[in-house]
Amino acid sequence: MRTSLALLSTAVTLAAACGSEKDFERLRIERRAAASSAASSAASRVATSAVARNSAATIASGATNPSAAAGTAGGAVASTTAAAAAATRTDEASAAGIKDPAQECTAYYYPPVGQLIADGVFPAIWEIANLSTAKAEVTALFQSLNSSIPNIAPKGTPQGDFSSVNYDGATDPDCWWTWGKCTSPKAAGVKPDVYNVPTPNTWGLTYDDGPNCSHNAFYDYLQEQNQKATMFYVGSNVVDWPLEAQRGLADGHEICSHTWSHRYMTSLTNEQAFAELYYSKKAIKDVLGITVQCWRPPYGDVDDRIRYIAQSLGLQTIGWEDNVFDYEIATLSRATIEQNYNDILAAAANGTYSVNGTIVLSHELNNDTMSLAQEFLPKIKQAFKHVVPVGVAYNNTEPYVESGYTYPNFAQYIGGTTTMSLAAPTAVSTDASLSIPLSTGATGSVSASVAYASNTGGAAAAASDSSGNSAAVRGSGGALGAVVAAVAGAVGAGAMAVML
Ligand SMILES: *[C@@H]1O[C@H](CO)[C@@H](O)[C@H](O)[C@H]1NC(C)=O
Ligand SMILES: *[C@@H]1O[C@H](CO)[C@@H](O)[C@H](O)[C@H]1NC(C)=O
Ligand SMILES: *[C@@H]1O[C@H](CO)[C@@H](O)[C@H](O)[C@H]1NC(C)=O
Ligand SMILES: *[C@@H]1O[C@H](CO)[C@@H](O)[C@H](O)[C@H]1NC(C)=O
Ligand SMILES: *[C@@H]1O[C@H](CO)[C@@H](O)[C@H](O)[C@H]1NC(C)=O
Ligand SMILES: *[C@@H]1O[C@H](CO)[C@@H](O)[C@H](O)[C@H]1NC(C)=O
Ligand SMILES: *[C@@H]1O[C@H](CO)[C@@H](O)[C@H](O)[C@H]1NC(C)=O
Ligand SMILES: [Zn+2]
Repeated sequence: MRTSLALLSTAVTLAAACGSEKDFERLRIERRAAASSAASSAASRVATSAVARNSAATIASGATNPSAAAGTAGGAVASTTAAAAAATRTDEASAAGIKDPAQECTAYYYPPVGQLIADGVFPAIWEIANLSTAKAEVTALFQSLNSSIPNIAPKGTPQGDFSSVNYDGATDPDCWWTWGKCTSPKAAGVKPDVYNVPTPNTWGLTYDDGPNCSHNAFYDYLQEQNQKATMFYVGSNVVDWPLEAQRGLADGHEICSHTWSHRYMTSLTNEQAFAELYYSKKAIKDVLGITVQCWRPPYGDVDDRIRYIAQSLGLQTIGWEDNVFDYEIATLSRATIEQNYNDILAAAANGTYSVNGTIVLSHELNNDTMSLAQEFLPKIKQAFKHVVPVGVAYNNTEPYVESGYTYPNFAQYIGGTTTMSLAAPTAVSTDASLSIPLSTGATGSVSASVAYASNTGGAAAAASDSSGNSAAVRGSGGALGAVVAAVAGAVGAGAMAVML
């Protein structure tokens, strides 16, 4: 039976009957809010990136004076004081020292990235990536892969309008997360998503959509707390704010990709999806010096075709179990997001996470989401036994392809050693090849040397926790999951969805 996503309201109603009414009501409010906030959210994203993009354009057109580059950024930078401050930002440490958000958000000239942009190494910032300007070897890499990619048609639009998609929701053949929260692929050889952690009563701490210009206060706080997290960086942001991206690595956080331009991945062609992932990895490699092996789909939108492409590019797909909806803080109010955080803390108290820990979706999007994250970290540490980056929970001590970056394993981290050995971030100014462990094709045997072991279910530290309730409690997550998934699809319909 094929079901049009336009009929999702039925699915929402049915799912709500088995989920809690409060959750349903909250999601219904969010659904309304999403539609109205969509335009302003998109507008602010474009406005912000325009500042840095203009500076890149200035650089490309020949200006080499840092303050001139910032000062002529499309008239966006009015203050010469801010421009002067931006000009003093020459490396990770000097960028990290800027405390005034207005100065932090002033575009600046960083020679290696300016050179790479001038040389046409990257696709256009914040545009859907493609291979039209790719080096021959990259196009060859894609061609060698293309015929083995699962034959699944792209769905909907890059803005998440799935209203014209007919999908067999009953069998969910593509394991489309956006439809039914599927995380166990049906296509041969594709690895399951990581969406929780194998240690009980553990909060897998993740922040998406960075690096943004004004994150120093937040990163300072994490540093004071000796707290590391998994950061999902958008490639276009890494190019816009390179020294801020370097800070994530220098501070000991685990870095993963969040694509090049933050679109709904299942809507893209094979070539676009490949390019989105390839260029986000390349931006992180060129600017930070590391080849990442993990990614999170924007909006969680992934199916087996996209998983296969990601895995072929050496990327483990990482989703989430819980969501605080902080990306909708402007429309939902701070109180609502606080309640969402509190619900997860309450669930920890009644044994919901006594077998597996959770991974929670949250954002470093803007001051509101970051200050909320800051407000809640002490409460999270109180309610959960451990708060760790995802890689740490999986003992993924060498998360990057390069050597020289060793992270603590779980035991070391909870013993207080939150940083092991990290080479400094290093940017290059000449186009370098990206080393990808690509398998050229045989269906069913994509080889990706990703280090996340499969979660066998609380094996790691089950013995040390005994809060009782287990699988039965987790089961209730399924109903909520169905509501979330259905609403996520419905929200997408006809509306520009918010950042996620
Ligand atoms: C980046 O941060 C600035 C300042 O906090 C904020 O206005 C802007 O919306 C953020 N950009 C994005 C893409 O979230
Ligand atoms: C590739 O991307 C560029 C930059 O966004 C765009 O101008 C061009 O039309 C795209 N090419 C194709 C074939 O889609
Ligand atoms: C990749 O393969 C698909 C079929 O699976 C085809 O439609 C598409 O044209 C191919 N792309 C390129 C760039 O060759
Ligand atoms: C545990 O707490 C959560 C959040 O308040 C709630 O949704 C769930 O129903 C509770 N489970 C049990 C078994 O009490
Ligand atoms: C960021 O949020 C904090 C806490 O809500 C607030 O004190 C501060 O003034 C905000 N900063 C900016 C630049 O809006
Ligand atoms: C723990 O999580 C894994 C997936 O990571 C899942 O297969 C397993 O069923 C979960 N166990 C329980 C008891 O929820
Ligand atoms: C992590 O390593 C510890 C030993 O240090 C082990 O007990 C635990 O099972 C490992 N966890 C995972 C998820 O592999
Ligand atoms: Zn996102």
